[in-house]
Amino acid sequence: MRIIERTSEMQRQADDWRRQGKRIAFVPTMGYLHAGHLSLMEVARRHGDVVVASIFVNPTQFGPNEDFTQYPRDTERDLRLCREVGVDAVFLPGVEDIYPRGYQTYVDVTGLTAPLCGRSRPGHFRGVATVVVKLFNIVKPHAAVFGEKDYQQLMTIRRMVLDLNLDIEVVGHPIVREDDGLAMSSRNSYLDPGQRRTALRLNRSLAVAQQLVEEGEHRGEIILERVRGVLEGDNGIRVDYAELCHPETLDPVSFVDGPVLLALAAYVGRTRLIDNRVLDPGSSR
Ligand code: PAJ
Repeated sequence: MRIIERTSEMQRQADDWRRQGKRIAFVPTMGYLHAGHLSLMEVARRHGDVVVASIFVNPTQFGPNEDFTQYPRDTERDLRLCREVGVDAVFLPGVEDIYPRGYQTYVDVTGLTAPLCGRSRPGHFRGVATVVVKLFNIVKPHAAVFGEKDYQQLMTIRRMVLDLNLDIEVVGHPIVREDDGLAMSSRNSYLDPGQRRTALRLNRSLAVAQQLVEEGEHRGEIILERVRGVLEGDNGIRVDYAELCHPETLDPVSFVDGPVLLALAAYVGRTRLIDNRVLDPGSSR
């Protein structure tokens, strides 16, 4: 496995692979890898001859009062996991390589980034879109894999790829969960055992909503009231948002008569967790 730290070297390697007719499949991450990340890398294998993962905690997607400096990092362990899962190259740039002095260009995807996390984290998706397009220009992938855990991010990247005519196949991958249902996240490492149990309410509330929908409840207001009830429990969780949206446009939806995205963000202590599920009246999952 190659470990590449410099942008120019990554671009040279990508050019070499392309000259050899190899398809490049790419998985961007912020590291502190878990089984969710690793399954994206396994999927990437099916979409390319070479798999590149990047590890870069991107400062521009964190707000001033967010956890950029505390974000968990363990590069040695990440590299071992990438090696074990068969990644061909890890791109590991420094902040000054990606944002050199004088940097002033940003990518703004507008409508899709307005609701949900975009409302609570102003500037977040601008940072995400900017770093992802930069990583695309450095790694030069044919395909890139993103998780549905960050559903709005996946939609934003798809939109950006269309709008900017980027010749890249965007592959989505379902949420990978712990055995007890908690969506895997690098931020789960912030939770103490009690908070870890409280955090299960996110997935539980999604299941309750799906159950309601299957029983014939179509009214968004009623569904969201139950979801909030499950989430809030006695205490321990502060709901940031619980919303029903069209799964492609992310426009608000008040009636569930087809597939509808239920998107959640909640604080357990100081840790902000997100989860989501596409509710489907016609499914008995
Ligand atoms: P990060 O949170 O490290 O996630 C990297 C990728 O892994 C994203 O596509 C995310 O959706 C996916 N992922 C995380 N947890 C997952 C889970 N439980 N199941 C399935 N996929 C999961 O998302 C980012 O980093 C950054 O915003 C990034 C795209 C790298 C840009 O900086």
